[in-house]
Amino acid sequence: MARLRIAVLISGRGSNLQSLIDACADADFPAEIVLVISNVPGAGGLARAEAAGIPHVTIDHRDFDGREAFEDAVHEALRDGGAELVCLVGFMRLVTDGFVDRWWDRLINIHPSLLPAFRGLHVHERVVEYGARFSGCTVHFVRPAMDDGPIIVQAAVKVHPDDTPDDLAERVLAEEHRIYPLAVRLIAESRVRVSGNRVLIQGAATSDAALINPDLG
Ligand code: GRF
Repeated sequence: MARLRIAVLISGRGSNLQSLIDACADADFPAEIVLVISNVPGAGGLARAEAAGIPHVTIDHRDFDGREAFEDAVHEALRDGGAELVCLVGFMRLVTDGFVDRWWDRLINIHPSLLPAFRGLHVHERVVEYGARFSGCTVHFVRPAMDDGPIIVQAAVKVHPDDTPDDLAERVLAEEHRIYPLAVRLIAESRVRVSGNRVLIQGAATSDAALINPDLG
């Protein structure tokens, strides 16, 4: 079966991009990365794409007169690259409603919290400050509102009382690297159906085991 052609949009170091590169390196993985786009010149993720022999391009938003013009250029590159699914991966630009419309249900994002909690920036600082017992990460379809949209996969981690935001970021990031490839695989296998605000996954295994933090001992 043909592999799903995905494009990855980044702004930074690209550790999640690397997890996708590694997943796609397996010939049995049902997706391939056809294009990496960075809006930041010299972003670390570009070197990862280069090392993996994946086509990559910088489209610097500062070279454009407004968000729409920038997104037109991104859209054109995605279309020319034959992208079927667009993955936002640490892409630090808000996308317009028009862009979301053009890629409706074909545009996904990862956020380092258990949405809908802790949308926006500085997530780990706020989670620690709030004293939340759990945090985690979410891969979701993109909708016009920030960090909003049908949830495809989530992973939870414990927050320890002595965690710094960096400790928590590291624990969450390890889960991000597991769930982004999983979400892409589920979509590529046509097991994901969007029904209103919900995603239904065909044949998904779930566990009823409660996660309690602190443990009951
Ligand atoms: C990740 O924590 C992601 O959830 C957030 O930005 C970070 C990107 O990290 N949106 P990387 O560039 O994939 O290493």
